[in-house]
Amino acid sequence: MKFENEVIQGDCLKLFRNIPDDSVDVTFADPPFNLKKKYNNYSDTKKFQDYLVWCKQWISEMVRVTKPTGSIFIHNIPKWLTFYATYLNEIAAFKHWISWDAPTAPMGKSLQPSHYGILYYAKNVKQNKYNEIRYPHKRCRKCGYLLKDYGGKKASLHPFGPLVSDVWTDIHRIKHNKYRDHHPCQLPIHLLERIILMSTDEGDIVLDPFLGTGTTAIAAKRLGRNYIGFELDENYIVISQDKITIEKSNSKIGNIWVSFFSNYLATIRNTDWEELSNHFLLPPNNKAIDRSKIDFKERKKVLKQFEFIINGNGSKKKSRDQINVELKFCDC
Ligand SMILES: C[S@@+](CC[C@H](N)C(=O)[O-])C[C@H]1O[C@@H](n2cnc3c(N)ncnc32)[C@H](O)[C@@H]1O
Repeated sequence: MKFENEVIQGDCLKLFRNIPDDSVDVTFADPPFNLKKKYNNYSDTKKFQDYLVWCKQWISEMVRVTKPTGSIFIHNIPKWLTFYATYLNEIAAFKHWISWDAPTAPMGKSLQPSHYGILYYAKNVKQNKYNEIRYPHKRCRKCGYLLKDYGGKKASLHPFGPLVSDVWTDIHRIKHNKYRDHHPCQLPIHLLERIILMSTDEGDIVLDPFLGTGTTAIAAKRLGRNYIGFELDENYIVISQDKITIEKSNSKIGNIWVSFFSNYLATIRNTDWEELSNHFLLPPNNKAIDRSKIDFKERKKVLKQFEFIINGNGSKKKSRDQINVELKFCDC
């Protein structure tokens, strides 16, 4: 396929013309939000209607190139997503509005914006490829107990963690400058890994028309998927190419693709748990899940394998995608 595993510099509307109908498994877009952000090359200040007309063009292209089994994801602030959804409802099938909990700067006389939305559409709802995914239980970092009160349902707790819902509170924005590239709005890699694990299989193709500094391509490569990235700005292209080249397709435990972040698994596929559980020290009974986190049988070996993600290119510095994880404590 043309452009497969390439990052191409140019205007996405022109580049889309090279991509045949129904040819990629997933399209993901994180467009400029028209919020006067400081990009190198792109003016983020279109007139209201102009911005929407432009968005409609690339959204149509995303839907056109996505396979009937495929999915379309668009990340933006809720204001723009309401317009996108109205249009998408005519040409694709609504699946979810994912609310990604990510506090932003106060906006004056309004409620404090505290989430971004990710629209999740299927090209064809009956044929759509979808995998249930799980994230680790949230625990008090001091005493290890589960933060959520599961009441009388503890006996049926999953040893790893709950199924992911449409509200994502466990993935944080990259807050610290030292963990980000010179780009105003870089997404965390494990956010894209969650989307990719949920909607694709090994070898599938993920296309991102606004690649920025390469987040989607890196996530795809780490998970053994293929990518196509478009980006207007040459500087961002150089940054992403440098990063993609040194990435490895090895985000795996045994034969299972997983999303690894910091020093834990951020997302796994539900169907993989049976095989994956062989790599964990499981609690003696379900009640014990309440107070003890499961750990890898061979922790050192696993951390060694993911050293690249944990430390970033073998250096002592923390990786670019590592962020300040909020400390949450219970009443202990
Ligand atoms: C919100 S950022 C994407 C950030 C990306 N998700 C990341 O994690 O690095 C939007 C990107 O779209 C690029 N862009 C703007 N207009 C474009 C166009 N017409 N075609 C391709 N890329 C464009 C900008 O240069 C910017 O890097």
